[in-house]
Amino acid sequence: MSVFKDKKILVAITAGIAAYKTTFLIRLLIKEGAEVKVILTPDATAFVSPLTLSTLSKNTIAYEFNKADGTWNNHVEYGLWADIMLIAPLTARTLSSMATGYCDNLVLGTYLSAKCPVIVAPAMDLDMYQHPTTQRNLELIQTYGNIIIPATSGELASGLSGQGRMEEPENIVEFLRAYLSSSLKLQGKKLLISAGPTYESIDPVRFIGNHSSGKMGFELAKAASNMGAEVILVSGPSSQSVEGFPIQRIDVTSALEMLDAMQNNFDESDVVIMSAAVSDYRPQDIADQKIKKDLDEMTIKLVKNPDILHTLGHIKRKKFIVGFALETQNAIENAKSKLKRKNVDLIVLNTLEDAEAGFGKDTNKVTFITQEDQPQQFAAKSKEGVAKDILNYIAEKIN
Ligand code: C5P
Repeated sequence: MSVFKDKKILVAITAGIAAYKTTFLIRLLIKEGAEVKVILTPDATAFVSPLTLSTLSKNTIAYEFNKADGTWNNHVEYGLWADIMLIAPLTARTLSSMATGYCDNLVLGTYLSAKCPVIVAPAMDLDMYQHPTTQRNLELIQTYGNIIIPATSGELASGLSGQGRMEEPENIVEFLRAYLSSSLKLQGKKLLISAGPTYESIDPVRFIGNHSSGKMGFELAKAASNMGAEVILVSGPSSQSVEGFPIQRIDVTSALEMLDAMQNNFDESDVVIMSAAVSDYRPQDIADQKIKKDLDEMTIKLVKNPDILHTLGHIKRKKFIVGFALETQNAIENAKSKLKRKNVDLIVLNTLEDAEAGFGKDTNKVTFITQEDQPQQFAAKSKEGVAKDILNYIAEKIN
């Protein structure tokens, strides 16, 4: 089966003569089984007609924020819909807007709000392509995570010859095929992931909880799904969302409920990741009625919650099991002993001393602790980036 089957590819066309080649590219993508939507910059409509593009893509196309009927083309929805956004051809002008964040058309608005990988195929005259600002802008947009299909050498529309031609449609399809194949590293694997805090009831309205946002676990679930895995996400109370992803979400509240959900889905899983911040203790008794505040002091007796990771680690059955650790002292040593004690394959360690790591933050800085390798420290990056590092590591180990 083609890796393109049912993949949603958003083709964005900017105003370069190579736009005519993009029509062939769209045909090839459709033949491979991809679902294609096309957007253009307003100037690009002078190079290829919207009618040609809607016929080839079998979809309506858009090139302005506002539609003729007074409604608007929602750039955010395009960005969320796509599995890949391909900008081909990419002109020097759109490139410089991408580098600076300038946004004055639908293509740029969609680019800025896209959650999916963005791949660009530049096309311009050779001197424009060689210009230091163009080269610098290409380097810059790569640092934002965009992927570049370099221009090739040959005859150019100006009559000059040199580097600047958009890569041929067949080669762009092969580039995308290789990208999709390598990015689907977890295809056929089942991942069970826990996220968020647990809330331990004191009475019908009060609980003991913690500040975990669930962000790390949700990013793991989304990234795993993007890598082709079947994902079950067991989440404690969290405002995070996996909307739009084919992820089975099981909501739980307490540690005991989380244990139950994790055990029920353990057998089916190839990989288990415990990223939840499970409450270590729970009140021994939960009051039936709201507790009155007439006492000056009160004591709540706590009992230990089961350690879910430890429980699953000791069932093990050849699953690849990952836990997290947050240490404030002797971090590496403690994480190593946790790895052994809980019988897991990888501990993702973060330290609270770091301004860029921890609860509720958007970034994280982690070290991988395993039995066989030296601790591997990563630079601070977004939780989405950390999720990808973790999943790439797992994919390498289990494949
Ligand atoms: O022992 P510690 O709480 O530092 O271990 C953290 C790891 O253990 C995390 O992966 C967390 O999800 C998991 N854990 C658990 N059940 C608990 C406490 C922690 O699964 N009761």
